Amino acid sequence: MTTVHNERTRPQSPSFDLTRKRVVVIGGKTGIGLGVAQAAHAAGASVTVASRRSASVAGHPELAPFEQIRLDISDEEAVRAAFDAIGTLDHLVVVAGPTDGSWGTFMDDDMRGVRSYIDSKFLGSWACARHASPRLPPNGSITFLTGGIAARPKVGMTSVTSAFAAVEALGRSLALELGPIRVNTIRPGFIDTDFWTFLSEADAAAVREKVRAGFPARRLGQPGDVGHAAVFLMTNPYVTGTVLDVTGGEHLVDWVF
Ligand SMILES: NC(=O)c1ccc[n+]([C@@H]2O[C@H](COP(=O)([O-])OP(=O)(O)OC[C@H]3O[C@@H](n4cnc5c(N)ncnc54)[C@H](OP(=O)(O)O)[C@@H]3O)[C@@H](O)[C@H]2O)c1
Repeated sequence: MTTVHNERTRPQSPSFDLTRKRVVVIGGKTGIGLGVAQAAHAAGASVTVASRRSASVAGHPELAPFEQIRLDISDEEAVRAAFDAIGTLDHLVVVAGPTDGSWGTFMDDDMRGVRSYIDSKFLGSWACARHASPRLPPNGSITFLTGGIAARPKVGMTSVTSAFAAVEALGRSLALELGPIRVNTIRPGFIDTDFWTFLSEADAAAVREKVRAGFPARRLGQPGDVGHAAVFLMTNPYVTGTVLDVTGGEHLVDWVF
């Protein structure tokens, strides 16, 4: 007897397949973004990575599988021109954000640090989504990236908390406005990248030890963990408007630094 399925009963096998898909990762040449680019490539996508640096493949063989673009996302005209040059794509992931500590504190008289942080992280994410979305298909997606501090503020980090929270709100708002294109945000916890070089070696080692001992997952988060989550968000057709914690359980325990 042949079984006739309707939409509800038709068996669906979960797919992480990105064959013949084009994925653009902004901030994809290092750290978390590189982990996302590598995961998308492993899932079959052709991947373009964009950021301000120009990195030679001879010096950075890890970038060999990717098309590279130079782009500063705080410059909206440059973002527009980059997406004109890119043309059509299937999935956009915006990981980029300042990591040099120049974000400015709340009581600074000079608000340049705050403006520059927001220009880059929030308005940069906005501009990338704005100029990519007309080139995305109905089953395409946009994924933003923030951090745990979006939900659990830390003294001295008000600019970062505010910018991250704004990016998450942007994600929810665009999920409504751009649907059926799906829009989500990944909120990572500690991920072992060069980001942590702002700490002394001894302090960074102490943070890593606390993460291993104190986070429920009992391990250091890796860029590939975020990459895995990003591929899930690109391929699951029913997840939109959400914030996905990829934290090893960091959000359940006290801050470690
Ligand atoms: N590592 C963690 O534990 C952690 C935790 C939570 C959140 N985050 C967030 O995750 C994001 C990525 O951090 P990461 O750890 O992967 O460090 P990272 O390797 O330093 O990544 C930052 C990336 O953003 C790019 N970028 C910065 N400003 C840009 C701009 N104006 N235009 C284009 N690209 C720009 C950088 O490339 P260029 O220098 O070539 O432009 C770099 O590839 C950051 O927003 C960070 O705040 C990190």
